[in-house]
Amino acid sequence: MSAVLEVKDLQIAFGGVKAVDGLSFEARENEIIAVIGPNGAGKTSAFNCITGFYKPTGGAISLNGKDITGKRPADIAAAGISRTFQNLRLFPDLTVLDNVRAGMHLYGGQNWADAIFHTPRFKRSEAHYTDEAHRWLDFVGYTGPRGVPIRNLAYGQQKQVEIARALARKSGVLLLDEPAAGLNYTEKQGLLSLCRRIRDLGTAIVLIEHDMGLVMELSERIVVMNFGHEIAEGTPAEVKANPAVIEAYLGKDEEVES
Ligand SMILES: Nc1ncnc2c1ncn2[C@@H]1O[C@H](COP(=O)(O)OP(=O)(O)OP(=O)(O)O)[C@@H](O)[C@H]1O
Ligand SMILES: [Mg+2]
Repeated sequence: MSAVLEVKDLQIAFGGVKAVDGLSFEARENEIIAVIGPNGAGKTSAFNCITGFYKPTGGAISLNGKDITGKRPADIAAAGISRTFQNLRLFPDLTVLDNVRAGMHLYGGQNWADAIFHTPRFKRSEAHYTDEAHRWLDFVGYTGPRGVPIRNLAYGQQKQVEIARALARKSGVLLLDEPAAGLNYTEKQGLLSLCRRIRDLGTAIVLIEHDMGLVMELSERIVVMNFGHEIAEGTPAEVKANPAVIEAYLGKDEEVES
């Protein structure tokens, strides 16, 4: 199967710090891959380059064979890459439903006149967005209230809503930055099955995650970073047995456990 997302020799430097220094990987349809590595390895910086929040200082990123390197975040989102953030980025005062709908308006077929005069087309599309938002909230298994400001929800619920919002864009590629952080055991089990259901939609998932149990169980391939460098790539079994990976984690007093 051909790659949906292709990252080649990606680099980003901040002053003298090379946060990402030569990262290459591919993500294909119906595939979950993970990017792991100790704190500060450059994982989030790589996501920020892929989604246009940072302009890479080197390398190339392509989506469905088209070069998207250095394009603006809105253009990259519209081209088909969605993401969630390591620190939630929702609109705290908007309701759950409106937060999910906010993800979709990017694709609205309406124009400003429709919106101001509330034309039938506008009303039809608004109803459609609301239905879709409910569908995605159902899909992620969200069972909380939908008409309340999102700031009132538990953290795990907010994380579910953020994934629903990303999914509502119907992108071919979904980047998840530490989706399991802060979740309890039951929530993590829900996340595991959700990731599989998202993959089964045909979406390519790239997962940054520190929870090794989750990574090993979910990923077809794992890319390992340390100090900006890619130090290994392979199946979970290959990565777990790789001495460079073990050293990178043990050097930080962490263990690669399954
Ligand atoms: N906007 C920025 N300006 C300056 N330095 C940055 C910036 N963003 C990231 N860095 C630096 O780049 C390096 C990689 O950071 P990054 O956040 O990508 O790591 P990470 O692998 O996501 O770590 P964590 O697992 O803790 O989230 C760090 O040294 C960080 O301080
Ligand atoms: Mg990070």
